[in-house]
Amino acid sequence: MISTEIGIDLGTANILVYLKGKGIVLDEPSVIAVDSKNGNVLAVGLEAKHMIGRTPGNISAIRPVKEGVIANYDYTQSMIKYVISKTASGGNRFFKRVRAVVCVPSGVTAVEERAVRESTLSAGAHEAYLIEEPMAAALGANIDVMEPHGNMVIDIGGGTTEVAIISLGGVVALRSIRVAGDAMDTAIINHVRRTYNLHIGERTAEDIKINIGGAKLDSHYLDKHIEIGGRDTTNGLPRTAVISAREICLALSETTEQIIDAVKSCLEKVPPELMSDIMDRGIILTGGGSLIYGLDKVIADETDLCVHYAEKPLNSVVLGTGKVLENFEATKRVLRLGRPRY
Ligand SMILES: Nc1ncnc2c1ncn2[C@@H]1O[C@H](COP(=O)(O)OP(=O)(O)OP(=O)(O)O)[C@@H](O)[C@H]1O
Ligand SMILES: [Mg+2]
Repeated sequence: MISTEIGIDLGTANILVYLKGKGIVLDEPSVIAVDSKNGNVLAVGLEAKHMIGRTPGNISAIRPVKEGVIANYDYTQSMIKYVISKTASGGNRFFKRVRAVVCVPSGVTAVEERAVRESTLSAGAHEAYLIEEPMAAALGANIDVMEPHGNMVIDIGGGTTEVAIISLGGVVALRSIRVAGDAMDTAIINHVRRTYNLHIGERTAEDIKINIGGAKLDSHYLDKHIEIGGRDTTNGLPRTAVISAREICLALSETTEQIIDAVKSCLEKVPPELMSDIMDRGIILTGGGSLIYGLDKVIADETDLCVHYAEKPLNSVVLGTGKVLENFEATKRVLRLGRPRY
């Protein structure tokens, strides 16, 4: 039977799919739009993201993965079904066997893990394997995870920040917090509401973060400003305000500190033998949330270690699943234990 092998990065913010032999074939927001009257799925991915905050009463745009884990099982299943049919079917899907490698945060509970496995199988895959995100991120960043050396990876996504030390194909030390890019957006929404009595939506907050957000105040950045629009919280009318990079950096400082604390507490757990490897090799930074301006420098200052970005921070995890698929027998040791269900 013809088989299709796909790797899925089921992220809080984005869902990406790697097709064996082809590369990344899908990269869309993890959003699904449903008709709230009958639960019918109206749109998935980019089309659904455009609907966030703009839907009429009977349509809701939902992000079914929250903080890295499934918040709504049925909608996650619909989303996986959509990506499988869009990428793996190729006309004769009923005759194809689908093998899927799906990422989960290292910090997931057994129940959360089972939800991912089951929803992948119910969505049409015949074999579902799970891989921990930092492991996939390290593979995708071209780290040789099998060697007996310590490598440190920080993956800051939308919902989770995972700091992991990897050696010999396994995670040796881990610190996982449910604070990442989304928490930055929330901090911006709260700051703008408190300071300007202005209510802004998630998408505006994300735009502000990407355009003028930062983890470190320095000269490059101090005089950047941006005009934003929202709703006045006192009279409900539309209004604009001009906000500065400096105040956004300050608004983000609590999130930045939580991330730094996670990095430090993971370092405290590193066995001494591996510490010297990390001092030699530094830290690999990946995930969309890590792209906030200056975060690499702040982490380097706070830890006295070199910090490098992975080549494609938004793709490392899915590229890691691809590495497993391309060489399944040799790399399957890095997959999360637990028998795949057929
Ligand atoms: N240039 C940028 N600057 C700051 N943040 C960014 C940038 N580009 C993307 N992001 C943020 O990165 C996050 C998405 O990253 P990513 O796709 O790695 O997350 P995810 O894998 O979906 O989430 P998770 O791994 O937590 O489940 C979003 O919060 C987005 O706003
Ligand atoms: Mg991720």
